[in-house]
Amino acid sequence: MIRKSELTPLESESPCEFAGRLADMSAGSKPAHKKQALGQFFTPPETARFMAKFYSLREDQKHIRILDPGTGSGLLSCALAEKIAKEKKSIRSIELICYEIDDEVISFTRLSLDHLKNWISNYGIKLEYELRCKDFVEDNRNVLQETSNLDGSQDEKLYDVIISNPPFFKLSKEDARHSLVSHLIAGQINIYSVFIFIASKMLKENGEMIFLIPRSFCAGNFFRQFREKLLSLIKFEHIHLLGSGAKIFKYASVLSETVMVHARRNSTKEKVSYKISTSFSEKNTGEADFRYSFLFDPKENIIPLPSCASEAELLEDVKSWKGSLKENNIQGNTGQVVLSKLSKDSLTDNSTERHTEKALVLGLNNSGLNTPKLCAPESYRGEFIEINERTWNFLVPNKNCILLRRYNTKHKDRRIAAVAFLRKSYEGNYIAFEKQVIFLSSSKGELSENETKELAALLNSEKIDQYLKIIYGDINVTPEELLNLPLPLKE
Ligand SMILES: C[S@@+](CC[C@H](N)C(=O)[O-])C[C@H]1O[C@@H](n2cnc3c(N)ncnc32)[C@H](O)[C@@H]1O
Repeated sequence: MIRKSELTPLESESPCEFAGRLADMSAGSKPAHKKQALGQFFTPPETARFMAKFYSLREDQKHIRILDPGTGSGLLSCALAEKIAKEKKSIRSIELICYEIDDEVISFTRLSLDHLKNWISNYGIKLEYELRCKDFVEDNRNVLQETSNLDGSQDEKLYDVIISNPPFFKLSKEDARHSLVSHLIAGQINIYSVFIFIASKMLKENGEMIFLIPRSFCAGNFFRQFREKLLSLIKFEHIHLLGSGAKIFKYASVLSETVMVHARRNSTKEKVSYKISTSFSEKNTGEADFRYSFLFDPKENIIPLPSCASEAELLEDVKSWKGSLKENNIQGNTGQVVLSKLSKDSLTDNSTERHTEKALVLGLNNSGLNTPKLCAPESYRGEFIEINERTWNFLVPNKNCILLRRYNTKHKDRRIAAVAFLRKSYEGNYIAFEKQVIFLSSSKGELSENETKELAALLNSEKIDQYLKIIYGDINVTPEELLNLPLPLKE
C-alpha cells in the first residue's frame, strides 16, 4: 500500500530524485509479467543524469522543445530539465512532450512533471508539458512513411532534443507495428528500433538524441539496412557501453547488453567519428574509464564497440588485415542432419567396412567448450548414415574442412570454436554435418591439410574471439557474417 504522504515531494527533493522514488513505487507494485509485456525497465537516477549531461545547450537558445517517448515516471525529462536549469544560459521556456502507454504509471508521471514545473520556475524557466497517454509508434506512424521526412518547414513538429529509454521487447509478426520497419530489419524486430527510428526523423537539423538501447543494432546483417538508413539521418557522437542490462535496471532481468547513444541530426554526407566509452562498474556511476574515437565507415556499415584500450588496439590490428574468408574462396554452410529425426533404415554403424555405402556424420560435442572435440567415429553409434535417396541431400564429398560451433550468450567465454577435419581420417567418399555445425571448406578445390589446420587455429585464437566480441558482443554471428571475417594475408 502506498501512503498519500509518499506521493508528495520531500523538502528539497529534486525532480529527478522524486521521479526515481515514484518509479520505485510503481515498479514495486507491478508484477514482473506486466513490466515485461510493456518493456518497462526504469532508469536509475544516476544513469538518467549521466545521459542528460550529453545535451549541449546553445548559448543563445531561449526555448527548447523536448520529446520523451516511453517516459515512465518522467525521470529522463526531469534529469534533462535539471541540467538545463542549472546551466541556464539564455533559456526562458521549455516545451516538453511525453508519451506513456501504461495507465498505471501515468498518475505517477503527472506528479513528477508537476513537481518539475514548480521546481524549474524557481530558475525563471517556464515549463509546459503535455503527457500523451497513447502509443508513441501508432501516433507517429506517418513519420515512418518513406515520403514523410520531416524537414525544417515543419519545425513546429520537430524537437531540439529527444531523450528516451524506450521499451525493449520483440514485436510479433501480427503486431501492426511490426510492418513499419520490416523493410529495414530482417528477422525479429524489437520495439526499441522502431522508437529510435521514428525519433531520428523528428529531430530539428542539429537536434540531439540521447537513447538507452540494446547494442544489437550495431552489427549483424539483420540490421544492415536499418543502420544505413538511421545513419543517413543522424550521426553518432558518443556511444557509451553500460554492459549487461541486468546490472543496470532495478526490478528487471534485461539480458541484452545496453548502450547509451548520443547522436545528432545531420543531413550532410561527411564522415563522422564517434567516441566510445564504458562503465562496467557494479554501481554504474556513469564514470567513463576509457575513451576511444572511431571513424564510422559507411561501406563497412558496422559499429564496433571496443571496451578498453587493448581492445581498441586489437580492433585496429585486425582491421588492417586485408583478406577475408570469402575472398580466399572459403564457403560456409550449415549442417543439416538431425540424427534423432532420421528413420532407422538411414542410420547405420561402423560395424561393417562398407564405407562406400555410408557417410560419416560429423558433429561437435559440447563438453569442453574451449576445446570442442570432433565426435570420434569409435565413440558414438549412429554417426554413420546410409547413402540412400533420403540422405542424399545431406551429403558432401569427403574433403578437408573446418567444423565451427557458435556459442550464444549462455556460453560467454567464447563466441566460436573450430576443429580441423582432414579427409584422410575417413576413407569413405561422403561426409555430412549435424545441424548445429557450420562447416567451412574451399569453394574452389580443396584446402590443403596445413591450410585447414592453420585456419582452425586462427579461428580458435584469442584474437579472433576478442574481435568477434568487439563487433557482435553477445550476439550470435551468422555463417554469412563469419565469411566476412578479416584474414591476415600470407607473406
Ligand atoms: C524502458 S521503460 C523506461 C521508462 C522511463 N523512460 C525511464 O527511463 O525510467 C519504457 C516505458 O515505455 C512505456 N511504453 C511501452 N510501450 C510504449 C508505447 N508503444 N508508447 C509509449 N510508451 C510505451 C512503458 O510502459 C515504459 O514505462
